[in-house]
Amino acid sequence: MRRLDQLLANLGYCSRREARGWIQAGRVTVRGVTEKDFGAKANPAEVQVDGAPLDHPDGLLLLLHKPVGLVCSHDEREGPNIYSLLPPRWRERNPGITSIGRLDKDTSGLLLLTDQTELVHQLTSPKHKVPKVYRATLASDLPAGLAAIFASGTLLLKDEVKPCASADLKVITPRSAELTLTEGRYHQVRRMFASQGCEVLTLHRAQFGPLSLTDLPVGQWRTLPPETFASR
Ligand code: URA
Repeated sequence: MRRLDQLLANLGYCSRREARGWIQAGRVTVRGVTEKDFGAKANPAEVQVDGAPLDHPDGLLLLLHKPVGLVCSHDEREGPNIYSLLPPRWRERNPGITSIGRLDKDTSGLLLLTDQTELVHQLTSPKHKVPKVYRATLASDLPAGLAAIFASGTLLLKDEVKPCASADLKVITPRSAELTLTEGRYHQVRRMFASQGCEVLTLHRAQFGPLSLTDLPVGQWRTLPPETFASR
């Protein structure tokens, strides 16, 4: 049960003060009956605003096809960000929506977004070893023996003391490959290739755990059932 004014404000409809006005004006019903007491408590599933059910009152989990050119930061000073792709109301929610891990500005592909802090921790923790599949194109031919180096579990990145966990490299053409990581270090794919003298030209994340983009167009998102990762 949630307080009506707080519920509307937290779901991004309006400020708490405005919510009180909306409720007093009769725009909100509970189980089909107008409720004018903004302090009343209700089950969010039974609340409607202007005749429509509430917008995802139980939380959001989104799968986004991130385009290149957008950053994953909320900080506007870092440039245009992925949150600009979402409906304005969702950007006003509290708790706010955040990405589960990040992709670089120049990387495209599958990115999960949620307002569930627990899920962010669960899926970004190295303990859980969620496999992430990246497709990279390279500026020069891949050197022989690269798969063995990436799989070794001993590869050290510049300025780091802990070796990278074993990663699976599938060479597709002389200048393109698919790399599966279970970690998510800063710029990890680009840095792993750079450590072996290879420059990554394009990078795309095709899979995150059991999820792939299927035919989702670039810049679009779809909602996933909140229980998608429930059994982990
Ligand atoms: N590795 C990178 O280098 N960049 C990303 O965006 C993700 C993984």
